[in-house]
Amino acid sequence: MATTLPSHLSKTTTHSLSPMATSAAFGSRLLPSAARATAATLSLPSSRYSSSLKCLRSSPFVSRLFLNQKRTSVFLSARGFSAASAPKCFASDPDQLKNAREDIKELLKTNFCHPILVRLGWHDAGTYNKNIEEWPQRGGTNGSLRFEIELKHAANAGLVNALKLLQPIKEKYSGVTYADLFQLASATAVEDAGGPKIPMKYGRVDVSAPEQCPEEGRLPDAGPPSPADHLRQVFYRMGLNDKEIVALSGAHTLGRSRPERSGWGKPETKYTKDGPGAPGGQSWTAKWLKFDNSYFKDIKERKDEDLLVLPTDAVLFDDPSFRVYAEKYAEDQEAFFKDYAEAHAKLSNLGAKFDPPEGIVLDDGSSKPVGEKFVAAKYSTGKRELSSSMKEKIRAEYEAVGGSPDKPLQSNYFLNIMIVIAVLAFLTSLVGN
Ligand code: HEM
Repeated sequence: MATTLPSHLSKTTTHSLSPMATSAAFGSRLLPSAARATAATLSLPSSRYSSSLKCLRSSPFVSRLFLNQKRTSVFLSARGFSAASAPKCFASDPDQLKNAREDIKELLKTNFCHPILVRLGWHDAGTYNKNIEEWPQRGGTNGSLRFEIELKHAANAGLVNALKLLQPIKEKYSGVTYADLFQLASATAVEDAGGPKIPMKYGRVDVSAPEQCPEEGRLPDAGPPSPADHLRQVFYRMGLNDKEIVALSGAHTLGRSRPERSGWGKPETKYTKDGPGAPGGQSWTAKWLKFDNSYFKDIKERKDEDLLVLPTDAVLFDDPSFRVYAEKYAEDQEAFFKDYAEAHAKLSNLGAKFDPPEGIVLDDGSSKPVGEKFVAAKYSTGKRELSSSMKEKIRAEYEAVGGSPDKPLQSNYFLNIMIVIAVLAFLTSLVGN
C-alpha cells in the first residue's frame, strides 16, 4: 500500500515494503523469537536489550527476518490458528515517536517553524464532523492533509511548507504515522515555544489514499458575515464548545498571516521584517514565537497597528459568551494554559482511529521515579485503616531519621558509624573483662 505524496515533494515513501518500514512496524516487544532467544542467551539488561533491538531492527538481515515472521504469521492464520496469537503492531512505534520528537526539537531550533507546525496539526484535525460516524469520512486527525488534493484547499495555503519540513523526519521514522507526526510536531512546537505541556496520546491510523480526504470547506473562514455564528457552526460541528473556541484561538499568539497565502495581514511589519525564519507577514503579537497570553491582551487593547486582529479574533471580545473566557485569559495566563492544554489535546484526538484503541502515551523522560505513596494498609494489622493521628506519628518517626513513608529510607552514614563504634566498644569491654 503506497502512500501518495504531493508531487511537489521530492521523495516518495512506502509504508509496507521497505526494510525500514518493515522493521519499524514491529515494536520491541515483537522481536522474532530467534532474536529474542539470542538476546536472552546474552542476558542483556532490558535497556541495552531495547537499544540492541534498535540496531537489530535497522539491519537488512533482521528486517528480512521480520518480513519472514510476518509472512509466517499470515500463513499460520490461514491454517486456522487464532489471529490473536499473531504479532500485533501498533499504528506508530513508541520508540520512534520519541526519537521523532527529538528531531522535531532540533528542527525547531534551526527553523523557528513553531507556528506553521501548530497550524498544520490544527488543519488536519479541524475537518472533523461529529455527525459522521464512519472513519475516515468523519475527517479529523488521520494524516489526510499530506495529500495534494487537500493541501490545495484554499484554507491550507502555505502548509505544503510544513509538510516539506517534516518529510525527512517521516522518512527517518517510517514507523510513525503522518497523523501522529503532525500532532506530535504541533504539541512539541507549543511546548518548545514556552506553552503548556499537552497531555497527548499517539497511535493514530493514517488514511491511505487521496480519495479519503474530506471535501473542501470544513475549516473556518477568517472574515465571515457573522463571525460568532460562523465559529460556533464550525467548532460545534467538531464537538467543541465556546470555552474551547476561545482557548484554541489563543494559538494565534504564535505566527503570522501572509497576504500571499490567506489574503489576510500586511506584507510586513516592524515585528516581522527581520524574521526569524522567512521575513514578512503580520503577527498577532510582538513576540510571535513565544507562547503566552499576549494574544488576548493585544486583541483586547487593539492599540498597535502592526498587530493583526482578524474578524474571528475580534469577536472573542465582542460576543458575550466568548468574552467571559477571553477576559479571563487576558488576565490569567495560568488559566489560559490549563484550558489551552486540555482543548489542544481534545482537538488532536478528533476523528482519530487509535491503534491500540487506548492510544500510546509517551513518558517525557524527565519524570523522576515517584516515591512510594503512603498506603495505610501497609502499616495496619489488616483489620482496620490506621487513624490519621497514627499515620502522622509514623510519618514523624520516619522523618526524625531523615526518611519518609513515601520513599525508601536513605542510609544515615553518621548513625551507622556510631553503631559500629558502640558495638566495638561493647566487644572491647567484654574482652577486657
Ligand atoms: C478560530 C478560527 C480560526 C481562523 C479563522 C484562523 C485563521 C487563520 C489565518 C487566516 C491564518 C494566516 C495563515 C497564513 O496567511 O499563512 C492563521 C494562521 C495561524 N493559525 Fe489560525 N485560525 C483559526 C483558528 C486556529 C486554531 C484553532 C489554531 C491552533 C490551535 C490556529 C493556529 C494558527 C497558527 C499557529 C497560525 C500561524 C501560522 C504561521 O505563522 O505560519 N488557528 N489562522
